[in-house]
Amino acid sequence: MKVVAKVGVIGGSGFYEFPDLYAPAELDIETPYQSSVKATVGKINGVSVAFIPRHGPGHRIPPHLINYRANIWALKSLGVDFVFALNAVGGIAAEMGPGALVIPDQIIDYTFGRAHTYADILSDALNHVDFTDPFSQKLRSILMNAAHGLSLKVITPAVYGCTQGPRLETAAEVRRCRRDGCDLLGMTAMPEAVLARELDMQYASLCTVVNWAAGLTGEPITLEEIYQTLSLVRPHLCNLIVASIKSLA
Ligand code: HPA
Repeated sequence: MKVVAKVGVIGGSGFYEFPDLYAPAELDIETPYQSSVKATVGKINGVSVAFIPRHGPGHRIPPHLINYRANIWALKSLGVDFVFALNAVGGIAAEMGPGALVIPDQIIDYTFGRAHTYADILSDALNHVDFTDPFSQKLRSILMNAAHGLSLKVITPAVYGCTQGPRLETAAEVRRCRRDGCDLLGMTAMPEAVLARELDMQYASLCTVVNWAAGLTGEPITLEEIYQTLSLVRPHLCNLIVASIKSLA
């Protein structure tokens, strides 16, 4: 297979373009999963990188309607081995307030009804992938080292609770997730992380905390605060992803 890209970057809320890519080309990748996927492919320090905004250009696709299988399949078809996923999340743990950058090491999956596996046909092959550690330790270390090099504070480890959305949680749901051991809540790490595992790709998530989870402040959560935090943090995210990709060169 001709390798078109070695690294995949999946942009989340507020991250719809990746202007750091040198000589970018737009691709429209056909997939077996009912939709084609638009990706931008370019280089960072000689490493070829494919960028996909998971919510589509300008955030048209809500978390439960994202075609996760098509996105991950598209990256695999380009030859991608390493995936950095960007996720906006709500913070539960005391040190994970708005603006914090977090590299989770664990997931609890609260989603339902999403196409969550490639094992959707009868097959003699066993399809029980090991998911003890849902994120790649190698990519997590690369992110942590890159953050250190940039004097950027990142928090790790952390448990990411993946909720169904698109609504935010109730206060009682957040209390329950805290009891379960979640440090933060987002809507997009699953099934993305497990699909990458099924296709044998290394995958890590870099989370931006954009609000305190529901019920923790007594104030309603507004999209305004979420987007304000995202735009403040975006330059740091870009620097961190670029530095991480350089260290994969
Ligand atoms: N909960 C779930 N997902 C989110 C949140 C949240 O509070 N903020 C951003 N994504």
